[in-house]
Amino acid sequence: MADEPPVALEVRGEDGDGRRYSPSAARNREPIRDALSRLIILPASILEVASGTGEHGAFFTGSLAGLHWTYSDIDPESLVSQDAWQRLDHTGRLRGPLTIDASSDDWLAAETAGGWDAVFSANMVHIAPFAAATGLIRGASRLLKPGGQLILYGPFARNGVIAPSNAAFDESLKSRNPDWGVRDLDRDLVPLAEAANLAQQGVTEMPANNLIVSFRKTA
Ligand SMILES: C[S@@+](CC[C@H](N)C(=O)[O-])C[C@H]1O[C@@H](n2cnc3c(N)ncnc32)[C@H](O)[C@@H]1O
Repeated sequence: MADEPPVALEVRGEDGDGRRYSPSAARNREPIRDALSRLIILPASILEVASGTGEHGAFFTGSLAGLHWTYSDIDPESLVSQDAWQRLDHTGRLRGPLTIDASSDDWLAAETAGGWDAVFSANMVHIAPFAAATGLIRGASRLLKPGGQLILYGPFARNGVIAPSNAAFDESLKSRNPDWGVRDLDRDLVPLAEAANLAQQGVTEMPANNLIVSFRKTA
């Protein structure tokens, strides 16, 4: 995904009202919205983990009636931007932001909200230590309704095979932080998800060698 740097590494624009923007979200929000509209039966309540600027949730709720979206992040600056997007929301279906560290076993306010139809996370599992991915899987297993979905978006390797652009991206991530890196969907994530009662449901190829991956809670 050489042509799609992650927002935490790219220059984020700001509007003056606190809302931040990232070039990658402007490019990928429509294909992700279209994929979500095929996966999620509306009305539905979605918890987003690692919402970044908050652009995705604002765009998705603005174009999918019946979508109820709650932001969260670990990063205070990102939470400020998400709060600004939420305050300017006109749908009444954009909530949060909640402070959530994906790697923790206590997702604070999200634990009491309970009963999420889906947990969505874009571009986090490769730009965080692997503990964020394992915590994300545990949290989704803990908080999803039976039949609810964990939906991931980002670059992945598949069974040891990685696209050249993602291999270059993986190297650059590891040079910034050796604990970051493009994860192998089949070897790193699917076994953990299955052990947490999250059965792999589908994989959709997305632009710039990204995937949308969905898991369904089985018990
Ligand atoms: C590359 S950005 C992606 C933002 C947004 N999802 C997107 O695709 O534009 C990565 C985000 O992950 C968040 N993050 C990193 N580690 C996290 C953790 N342990 N728990 C929750 N969020 C985390 C960062 O604060 C940042 O907002």
